[in-house]
Amino acid sequence: MPASKSTPTGRQVNVLFVCLGNICRSPMAEGVFQNIAASHPLIAGIDSAGTAAYHAGEGPDSRTMSTLRRHNITNYEHAARKVTKQDFLDFDYLLAMDKHNLRDLLDVRGSVVAEVRLFGDFGPGGVLTERVGGGEVVQDPYYGGVNGFEEVYQQVIRFSKSFLDYVEKNQDLEN
Ligand code: 4NP
Repeated sequence: MPASKSTPTGRQVNVLFVCLGNICRSPMAEGVFQNIAASHPLIAGIDSAGTAAYHAGEGPDSRTMSTLRRHNITNYEHAARKVTKQDFLDFDYLLAMDKHNLRDLLDVRGSVVAEVRLFGDFGPGGVLTERVGGGEVVQDPYYGGVNGFEEVYQQVIRFSKSFLDYVEKNQDLEN
């Protein structure tokens, strides 16, 4: 994980995307966000993890990879892993895909200050819902068809842009 550091435009942040199995939704979010934000001056590290270890060590679901490829994201690689306590220290934002993931993260966060949110809490223009978990959920597409994966892609594109707007706005306030 790259150390987050202060830059002329603000402090960099590390971002972890979280779902249940870490093979469908959070890898999609990671792959999309890498593509959009890898060279962004305020983004240091990007990773993903699952609240469960069912698929630890496995690559992303083939439907996540084919959806990314269809949208010209061809350089994404990941091995599934479970969220650890250390993640709450290493990452500034842990962004959950649904309310179960969010609750599981909040249960283990303890007193660590990392921001734990639904990814869908970030709306257009970088507006954050007042209530943690008040935003849009990314439904689990694992047991459905390939259309569910396209829907996940469209959601995480939107949320990635909104989250970046939020980070930019927030850093402006800190300066
Ligand atoms: P994900 O989807 O949380 O988006 O990675 C799932 C993948 C696997 C399982 C559940 C959800 N599973 O039960 O094996």
